[in-house]
Amino acid sequence: MDAQLRVIALVGSLRRESYTQRVVLALKDLAPETMAIEVASIGSLSLYNEDDDTDAPPPPWQAFRNQVRRADGVLFATPEYNRSIPGALKNAIDVGSRPAGASVWSQKPAAVLSASPGALGGFGANHHIRQCLTFLDMPVLQQPEAYLSRVAGLIDADGRITSSATADFLRGFVSAFEQWIRRLRHDTAIAKAPNPQASILAPNRFAHL
Ligand SMILES: Cc1cc2nc3c(=O)[nH]c(=O)nc-3n(C[C@H](O)[C@H](O)[C@H](O)COP(=O)(O)O)c2cc1C
Repeated sequence: MDAQLRVIALVGSLRRESYTQRVVLALKDLAPETMAIEVASIGSLSLYNEDDDTDAPPPPWQAFRNQVRRADGVLFATPEYNRSIPGALKNAIDVGSRPAGASVWSQKPAAVLSASPGALGGFGANHHIRQCLTFLDMPVLQQPEAYLSRVAGLIDADGRITSSATADFLRGFVSAFEQWIRRLRHDTAIAKAPNPQASILAPNRFAHL
């Protein structure tokens, strides 16, 4: 069996009864056995301030950075605040991105899911996250896109998805994310493997000049 992948989920809502948080907890059950989803506590991260990013940064920043480093993939799950990314989530992204040159995000496979009780499914937040992830050099799952609109009617208080179509969609989404992570790991392994032909070809590289 494939080794279990460790995915860290960053949830953009700190609200106790958050729909987004409930969706992520449901995803833990819908995910294949070969993927474990762990939710990061981004609410304990103080606001990013470069002055505090010394040789001894705040312990919650260090713990969070290490948690991301250990992960095989990152799931960004978020509501939309004022058509953009909630501050708590943007702060977590910023904390992980520094100090300069030591970002924990670089080359980590990512997926983005947004949710809203409204009709647009958090489209604005979803794409503002994608804008950050481009700069942070994270390979992001492109399809399926995940905008959960009218989320209040899709999940009950016990965290059960009430629509079978939505459950199927979410199952497909996590499964596509798993394949995405494995594909990137495979490609990286091939890229790192010594190429037996390299030494043969190397002397001839400029033969055409
Ligand atoms: C500051 C703030 C701004 C919001 N802006 C939007 C918005 O731009 N688009 C939207 O669909 N919902 C917006 N909402 C409503 C949220 O989608 C709603 O509160 C949702 O339940 C939050 O997600 P959660 O249930 O995971 O906490 C906003 C809510 C807050 C508190």
